[in-house]
Amino acid sequence: WALFAEDVEAILALKREKNAVILAHNYQTPEIYHCVADIVGDSLALAREAMHVEADIIVLAGVSFMAETAKLMNPGKTVLIPDTEAGCSLADSITPADIRLMREAYPGVPIVAYVNTTAAVKAEVDICCTSGNAKRIVESLGVPRVIMLPDQYLARNVAAETGVEIITWAGQCEVHERFTAEDVRELRAAHPGVTVLVHPECPPEVVAEADFAGSTAAMTDYVADHRPPRVVLLTECSMSDNVAVHYPDLEFIRPCNLCPHMKRITLKNIRRALEENRNVVTIDPAIADRARSSVERMLAI
Ligand code: 13P
Ligand code: SF4
Repeated sequence: WALFAEDVEAILALKREKNAVILAHNYQTPEIYHCVADIVGDSLALAREAMHVEADIIVLAGVSFMAETAKLMNPGKTVLIPDTEAGCSLADSITPADIRLMREAYPGVPIVAYVNTTAAVKAEVDICCTSGNAKRIVESLGVPRVIMLPDQYLARNVAAETGVEIITWAGQCEVHERFTAEDVRELRAAHPGVTVLVHPECPPEVVAEADFAGSTAAMTDYVADHRPPRVVLLTECSMSDNVAVHYPDLEFIRPCNLCPHMKRITLKNIRRALEENRNVVTIDPAIADRARSSVERMLAI
């Protein structure tokens, strides 16, 4: 605590002084998640909550596509991202020109984009989805074939759940692609009775070995509802740290992979962003309305 106290207190004072709130993703480190965040959640919750913020400033403790989505959903607010280099391997894997080529190649097939994309990509697609609602969004389209991008694993996991034919893109999350089915089998052998929860950005063979696959919020809810005595969350490392605090009676086994992008956000750069009004998120007006529509269509379902 001694390491963090000065920055935490400064951030709490700055939030009051500047009428700011901090929205933090579930992968943020515990000192951000538990000590300075006003709202925490998965990508879906952060997009929804951003819409209802009344404060003047939103600091998005997460990666760039999340900050862009917050700005899209509440364009009148100042949105700050503490480190502009906080990217995402999925968002980096596809461009607006790629989407236009997919439309030409598959005329009339609806395009669903994971929220882990830039606003410019969102502007070119029909609707967005998150890991928390991908199945529902795909089924809501009521068609036998959709394009879902850029995460090939999420797309294949959704195809397995829905029976809808899904045309994929060759993107993947650099964190979740590293988990293997062998990891799950080894965990079960080493920790008998362990309940294995995985994120749907993991490869399908990993999801097939798991007890449950769901968004970061769905994994948190699973632990709350089922109280598995011994549990592993195969996802980014801070997830277990943040959830385990609430369940000292449960045993959390903690193999994990760090997201280097999420870890760019620190108490120090949150403080600096607030002190200097630094790294204001802007979205090209030529794309903002179309990108917002893709997110709004998702939130309406
Ligand atoms: P969630 O929407 O499940 O929080 O996932 C976001 C993400 O970046 C996972 O890698
Ligand atoms: Fe992107 Fe994966 Fe990091 Fe999530 S964990 S922000 S999908 S690289």
